[in-house]
Amino acid sequence: MIHFPQECTNGSGSLCHQQTILVTGGAGFIGSHTTLQLLGEGYKVVVIDSLDNSVEESVKRVADLAGENGHNLYFFRVDLRDKDALEVVFSMTKFDAVIHFAGLKAVAESVAKPLFYYRNNMIGTINLLEVMAEHGCKKLVFSSSATVYGQPSSVPCTEDLPLSTTNPYGRTKLFVEEIARDLHIADPEWKIILLRYFNPVGAHPSGLIGEDPRGVPNNLMPFLQQVAVGRRKELTVFGTDYPTKDGTGVRDYIHVMDLATGHIAAVRKLFTPKEIGCTAYNLGTGKGTTVLEIVAAFERASGKKIPLRYADRRPGDCSEIYASTEKAERELQWKAVYTIDDMCRDQWNWASKNPWGYRHPDLANGNRT
Ligand code: NAD
Ligand code: WQD
Repeated sequence: MIHFPQECTNGSGSLCHQQTILVTGGAGFIGSHTTLQLLGEGYKVVVIDSLDNSVEESVKRVADLAGENGHNLYFFRVDLRDKDALEVVFSMTKFDAVIHFAGLKAVAESVAKPLFYYRNNMIGTINLLEVMAEHGCKKLVFSSSATVYGQPSSVPCTEDLPLSTTNPYGRTKLFVEEIARDLHIADPEWKIILLRYFNPVGAHPSGLIGEDPRGVPNNLMPFLQQVAVGRRKELTVFGTDYPTKDGTGVRDYIHVMDLATGHIAAVRKLFTPKEIGCTAYNLGTGKGTTVLEIVAAFERASGKKIPLRYADRRPGDCSEIYASTEKAERELQWKAVYTIDDMCRDQWNWASKNPWGYRHPDLANGNRT
């Protein structure tokens, strides 16, 4: 099905051509922030999204936040598993590059429903790559994840560490990375950048767009946010006996605004005449923060006391992981600038203005239909 809201058209109902980026999954958390920055940089952006884990309201808010440039934003409700619908989108305009965010990302759900995850994330991506190739669009930025480092043998993680992963979601990231490397070997015209995000958090400083997961959040920050606004009673801290400074797990949290500028840097690199092949970059800050440090920072930002319950380690979790940022700094000329306090401030700004996310309270806890 194709959806083409009036406010996202150029008035004539057809797309006119200038440097145009296709953003899959652009209604989601990272995609919406990146789309806004792309518009700010003067790109035309076509967002496609199944709205499986997002709502169209995020795209509308991005268009509003972009002001004049909002006219350069187009939205189609398309599921990547529907190759015919993808064909229609590609036949309407010529894309200069694709940023591929679309995918399901809940680790526990992927363990319970592996085939659903493999179909969505693998078949969806293969459809996209095939249609791109047919239409001569061979520039891609792919949302990979620090999950491909599995239980890392050393930290900080450099991009050349051995890759492994512990769950079906992680395997979809690892397999797509391998497919991308094979694709470039078979056809060196492809330019592919694999961005391995660490732990994305925060929100746009306006508080108008942010993360709004469907159902019970899997990740620390959205759960913490829902406790702070009173949607959940307490935060469960998974594991207090890790060999870290306070016994809780250490992660590399990165502000979504920094991630978005990382994508702009990657797109710019795709357009350089240099041979870049298929290459991976970490997007992280290089700094590790414990769960209790995040809770303390969030309490400072929100002025709310977060009730905690201490529990055993969550299966599959590693003790400590954070990025080496050297390769991205050197080759993308990109470096994260936001601090943990900035991340918590912006997360709370989004949460306090949108305690039920983009949705009506009756729908906010809904499961996937
Ligand atoms: P998100 O769920 O907010 O956004 C993903 C979007 O993809 C959603 O809007 C969803 O509706 C859409 N989508 C899913 N399957 C689709 C399909 N078959 N066709 C079209 N659209 C589809 O998640 P996010 O946090 O913005 O993550 C974006 C990407 O980054 C994902 O690929 C995710 O795996 C990856 N990633 C996320 C994190 C994280 O912690 N947020 C970390 C590392 C990597
Ligand atoms: C962070 C820390 C938890 C929730 C996951 C995916 C990974 C990537 C990023 C997509 C850990 C602790 C969490 C809670 C807690 N996503 N925690 N209570 O596990 O580093 O990575 O998201 O690619 O693939 O696995 O992130 O936010 O779930 O956990 O104590 O309710 O917070 O144990 O130490 P994680 P997270």
